[in-house]
Amino acid sequence: MTAHYTVNGIVAVITLDNPPVNGLGMATRLAITDGLQQAQADSAVKAIVITGAGKAFSGGADIKEFGTDKAAVEPNLRSVILAIENASKPVVAAIHSVCMGGGLELALGCHYRIAAPGCSVALPEVKLGLLPGAGGTQRLPRALGVEPALNMIVSGEAIKSEMLAMLPGQKLFDKISASADSLAAEALTLAQAIADTRPLPRVRDLPCKHPQGDGYFQFARNMVKGMAKNFPARLKCVDAVQAATQKSFEDGVLFERENFVNLMLSPESRALRHLFAAERAASKIKDVPADTPLRDIKSLAVIGAGTMGGGIAMNFLNAGLPVKLLEMKQDALDRGIAIIRKNYEAQVKKGKLKQDKYEQRMSLLSSTLSYADLSAADMVIEAVFEEMGVKEKVFNELDRVMKPGAILATNTSTLDVNKIANFTQRPQDVVGLHFFSPANVMKLLEVVRADMTAKDVMATVMSVAKKIRKTAVVSGVCDGFIGNRMIEQYGRQAGFLLDEGCTPAQVDKAVEKFGFAMGPFRMSDLAGNDISWAIRKRRYSEKPEMKYSKTADLLCEQGRFGQKTGAGWYDYVAGKRDAIPNADVVAMVAEHRQSLGITPRKIGDDEIVQRLVFSLVNEAAHILQEGIAAKASDIDIAYVFGYGFPAHRGGPMLYADQVGLFNVLQSMQRFALNPLDDADFWKPAPLLVRLVAEGKNFN
Ligand code: 3HC
Ligand code: NAI
Repeated sequence: MTAHYTVNGIVAVITLDNPPVNGLGMATRLAITDGLQQAQADSAVKAIVITGAGKAFSGGADIKEFGTDKAAVEPNLRSVILAIENASKPVVAAIHSVCMGGGLELALGCHYRIAAPGCSVALPEVKLGLLPGAGGTQRLPRALGVEPALNMIVSGEAIKSEMLAMLPGQKLFDKISASADSLAAEALTLAQAIADTRPLPRVRDLPCKHPQGDGYFQFARNMVKGMAKNFPARLKCVDAVQAATQKSFEDGVLFERENFVNLMLSPESRALRHLFAAERAASKIKDVPADTPLRDIKSLAVIGAGTMGGGIAMNFLNAGLPVKLLEMKQDALDRGIAIIRKNYEAQVKKGKLKQDKYEQRMSLLSSTLSYADLSAADMVIEAVFEEMGVKEKVFNELDRVMKPGAILATNTSTLDVNKIANFTQRPQDVVGLHFFSPANVMKLLEVVRADMTAKDVMATVMSVAKKIRKTAVVSGVCDGFIGNRMIEQYGRQAGFLLDEGCTPAQVDKAVEKFGFAMGPFRMSDLAGNDISWAIRKRRYSEKPEMKYSKTADLLCEQGRFGQKTGAGWYDYVAGKRDAIPNADVVAMVAEHRQSLGITPRKIGDDEIVQRLVFSLVNEAAHILQEGIAAKASDIDIAYVFGYGFPAHRGGPMLYADQVGLFNVLQSMQRFALNPLDDADFWKPAPLLVRLVAEGKNFN
């Protein structure tokens, strides 16, 4: 049963019980209407309470039903809400913990609402590329006021129940209970008190106006426009709330419905729903059961206070965990701590961090030059120079001093984690934690599972990742792991595009129009062109058969390493990030092209984008086939959260599926005819060929 019916004196209680968040799936909807009928048929019952078991009132419509027939099966959510609103006996919603989406819409259909303090209340549909589709855009403005309701609907952000209850004139909550524990009893008392009240109050009957009328909505549209690029749902939310102020309730609901259905079919919503599921799936590891006992992580040590070590430490300080930072020399330690301090002070200045929180975080930070001081830490993350010899020394020391059971993590971006693990006598405790720079900002964390990494270490670091608000994706051991291994092919292809006739700005513009946060050349300027240069130099000796465009090497030979030197593919003015095209670089690209005897050709934006994105997709297919990534959706998450791939396209793998793998393969075969590319570049991954032959896709 996904909802239970009980009777307490004159009050019937319908308790939603559909873990994990009481999603309003078909069975639950049916159970609610059954309960309503039973209560109305029972003359001893005078009022009805609807509440939720477990950790939510309700997280809304069951997302897993979207795109299936079940979502529409009667009673659909709108019919359930109508049945509540039209009930002959008063219905009270007793709300706690989480009340979101369809869950809030259901509560708005009730005649009375009592909420526990601390409950997260939201209409988050916009985050799935939708608008609330069960009356939320029509009822919330009536209950809360047009402006606060529109803000909630357009942002999708959750607000605490007690904050909403303080809004002047609000009719969303009739009462906030004294505590979460007293909610059930107070809901019963309220239900008894209003049992005989008639007529029953309905949110739909409340007035809905904004004093500035349509002028306000024009203002709202202008505000939303920037955020709405590539995400059509936001402007539709404004339209729907405006409809609430202009149309009858019934017509407003129809307008909302039509837009909801259209958005549900949009590629943007499909992509965002894919990412919602993919993010949650990424945290699960097939052979690591959900109930694997976790190691207790209460304190951290970080080795190396450079670019990465400082940022990594901040993540844990932010989460309230003490961190001990170790360096070789006092001045390096002082420099690292000063940067952490400066980062926090900048946040305080911008009003993003309160002074007392800043002090609290800094008080959790301590430092040392001695490994002996690390022995109490539950987990240590190494972020020293990227040299195997240095890593060996560090892991020998860690093996010597860390307590048994401590997790030993490396932030290496290119080295073999198996080798690093074998520098210790406890390879089962060693794992890769590949943070992205700036480590205190970037959401992605690649968790690198070495051959011997213990299952409970994997389970623990996935849980730690959640605690520090990172989106973790598991990668096997290989050169570059998932993300950088793919980006290397993308970078190679970007170089070929220059050799054939493009300018860096033309490539970047095409890719940014597609939706990437940054094109490949701006991204390389940000990361530092010297980093990919070092990788290429390694490749030239390891894999001399692999072809690269030489333009990037020529650029580096001029010392144009990117933003940090004020010059890279573009020029930069100190303190600013704007990329200013440089005529000498464009001439250097042209000269190199000429030296190869290539007559430049005009390459269209579509070809630029396809060649770059399919470079990612082909390498990803190898990665999947080799088991480096367990699921295609993990790769999508890595690219959206770590590499600026446009979220509204759902990641490279979903994009390839949407284009159709047959078409992807055809395009690759066409690109392979180009005599200027590396002949092997477009050799399709066997997995891609197989999926096309079987008529399947990645996801
Ligand atoms: N339907 C079905 N399952 C849901 C769900 C929903 N609405 N919301 C969350 N879940 C599932 C997740 O998939 C996950 O499942 P898993 O354990 O199998 O991976 C599980 O609940 C726990 O989710 P989280 O890991 O996100 O747990 P948290 O405790 O961190 O967060 C939450 C809970 C705040 C409810 C968060 O899951 C969330 O924001 N959910 C989305 C809520 C939402 O978007 N609701 C609107 C749905 S659309 C709608 O209602 C349409 C209507 O207007 C017609
Ligand atoms: P960095 O050069 O900024 O910092 C390294 C720090 O380690 C220096 O402060 C140095 O004094 C210290 N150090 C060196 N040897 C040490 C030792 N034996 N004991 C204690 N401290 C020692 O380097 P960065 O960029 O922070 O990189 C660190 C690691 O993170 C490398 O493995 C790198 O590959 C990896 N990484 C770097 C990323 C980046 O964008 N910079 C991204 C992801 C991973």
